Amino acid sequence: MFISLEGSEGAGKSSLIESLIQSFKDANKEFVFSKEPGATEEGQAIRNILLDKSIDLDPYAETFLLLADRSQHVKKIIYPAISKGIHVLTDRYIDSTYAYQGAGRGINEDVLNYLFKMLNFPIPDLTIFLDIPVIEGLERVQRRGEMDRFEKEEITFFERIRESYLFRAKQEPERFFVIDARKPQDEVHKLARDCILNKLKND
Ligand code: TYD
Repeated sequence: MFISLEGSEGAGKSSLIESLIQSFKDANKEFVFSKEPGATEEGQAIRNILLDKSIDLDPYAETFLLLADRSQHVKKIIYPAISKGIHVLTDRYIDSTYAYQGAGRGINEDVLNYLFKMLNFPIPDLTIFLDIPVIEGLERVQRRGEMDRFEKEEITFFERIRESYLFRAKQEPERFFVIDARKPQDEVHKLARDCILNKLKND
């Protein structure tokens, strides 16, 4: 089972992952948890460039850096785990690129589809999208402190991102599971955990 977790800024992905790690440990389910950008050593170097707000990246340069990061992630972590029958849960994956680089930066979706296909990126069996209205998400991010290169974008950028996620979720209802991230944390956790465990049972 290959699962991705998506969400716009401030949706609470990190807290959810922490609680899921504990749940799957308790349930004796073997999972590899990883994160984009930066899941591998090479990816960490790429991540530093991507998040550095003193660097002005062209949208294509940004996209290709993310794809370079993902290629390493897929080759070194995702495929080896899947081929051993170990479940993988990644914090962000291809839908982040459709949302941020596609809707956010204006990279054509056909170009992204072509690149993903060419690079042989596997499609997740399940994608959980934590949805939060843009203003509320950004307020949470601001309360956390210093912001990175993406978090400093204007509000319309994040509105396009949220719309892209919701549109994709509507287009692919069998892959996507949308959770309202304004719900209490333990409820969000329970919804995500039950959805994953159900999917594992039916697989
Ligand atoms: P990160 O600090 O990991 O934050 P988050 O908790 O929001 O995931 O920052 C990663 C940033 O990279 C995030 O702002 C979204 C961006 N990103 C893209 O723009 N496209 C992508 O394909 C991916 C994987 C991430």
